[in-house]
Amino acid sequence: MTATIIDGNAIAQRKRAEVADRVAALARSGITPGLAVVIVGEDPASQVYVRNKEKACAEVGIRSEKVELPEQTTQQELMAVVEQLSARSDIHGMLVQFPLPDHLDEDAVVEAIPVTKDVDGFHPESIGRLLVGKETLVSCTPAGVMAILEETGVDLKGNEVVVVGRSNNVGKPVALLCLAQHATVTQCHSRTRDLPGHVGLADVLIVAVGRPEMVKGEWIKEGAIVIDVGINRTEDGRLVGDVEFETAAERASAITPVPGGVGPMTVAMLMQNTVLAAERATGRPQ
Ligand code: GUN
Repeated sequence: MTATIIDGNAIAQRKRAEVADRVAALARSGITPGLAVVIVGEDPASQVYVRNKEKACAEVGIRSEKVELPEQTTQQELMAVVEQLSARSDIHGMLVQFPLPDHLDEDAVVEAIPVTKDVDGFHPESIGRLLVGKETLVSCTPAGVMAILEETGVDLKGNEVVVVGRSNNVGKPVALLCLAQHATVTQCHSRTRDLPGHVGLADVLIVAVGRPEMVKGEWIKEGAIVIDVGINRTEDGRLVGDVEFETAAERASAITPVPGGVGPMTVAMLMQNTVLAAERATGRPQ
């Protein structure tokens, strides 16, 4: 079998167009969704990510507000900024870009964000609400994985989903989301004894371990759907995922490329979360 290559850019573009329609509907009621992004210090990668978020906001009609704080900002000062943004009714979603400088406590910052505005879905209560199936905001990368799976048309009910990776931001939430869709979910990780054996059972394989080409194509079941969340730079400068793409594509029925697969979905889902937070906050249909 030769896999269909899933075009994450095209799916993300469609999702952003849907968000723009919802923003336009809110605008007819006089509401403009607002997203606040706090960035501390000069980390170059963070600057790029934040710029991309602002650009996406401008494209869909969300008002974005960037708060730039110096590297030497104290915890108290940062918490005060988070508190001020939390209290504002024109800010429907907010996030603090990570990583923070070493002297700052990321957990304390996340926990200070109201769950209704937690568009990153990082708050322990947001994750807990997902666990028990209550209304919440789902973290953007797992939400992007689910949106891609929906586009493939696969019905997860009863299917074997294998998640490789158990991070709080991707592996764990994506497993919960698949479980909510009645998949039989196996969560693998660095200590899993027989990783090839587990991977070989997957109808849907989701890999988020952050190790270049760790999952080999020959492990994958013929016809599986493969979602590669990894993005790694090799020593010779190539961008690769956590899955060995060429060999996996010979066996899978559909596979996400790196780059151009899951990556573009993350910002699209941030836009979706922001408009959803605004709809909920203002009692509008979702
Ligand atoms: N740093 C890298 N990715 C992210 C993200 O999705 N959210 C935040 N807050 N920081 C990040």
